[in-house]
Amino acid sequence: MTNLIYILNGPNLNLLGKRQPEIYGHDTLADVEANCAVVAKEFGLEGRLLQSNHEGQIIDWIHEARENGAGIIINPGAFTHTSVAIFDALNTFEGPVLEVHISNVHKRESFRHHSYVSLRAEGVIAGFGVEGYALAMRRMGSLVGK
Ligand code: DQA
Repeated sequence: MTNLIYILNGPNLNLLGKRQPEIYGHDTLADVEANCAVVAKEFGLEGRLLQSNHEGQIIDWIHEARENGAGIIINPGAFTHTSVAIFDALNTFEGPVLEVHISNVHKRESFRHHSYVSLRAEGVIAGFGVEGYALAMRRMGSLVGK
């Protein structure tokens, strides 16, 4: 049994901490990775945080998770609202999928209100800032941890 949780991040999230800090805050993806690692350890899990600006790369990582992942935490960025391909890829994964958004997408433009990924995800966290990732990891602990 694998204990690996993929933490997948989509476009522009490499700029987390620098990009629109009034919306996304000052923490970076490295901070997110460190926070998730602490929670993951509590549950005997291991997090693998990855980020890409390319849809196909995210799909390849989802396929990789099919082989060796226990769960997927995903913030697909803007692909959330556009990507049937990421939705299809997530549907090939058998473990739990949790969707995270740093901002409260429902308080923002109407094009951010629809998520393809939510049609697949077991749970969604939005508007909890970067803390949402650690909360999602805690939930992963309940779902697949020891
Ligand atoms: C986001 C929300 C998306 O609408 C946006 O395109 C992002 C980040 C979030 O984490 O709040 O890039 O997923």
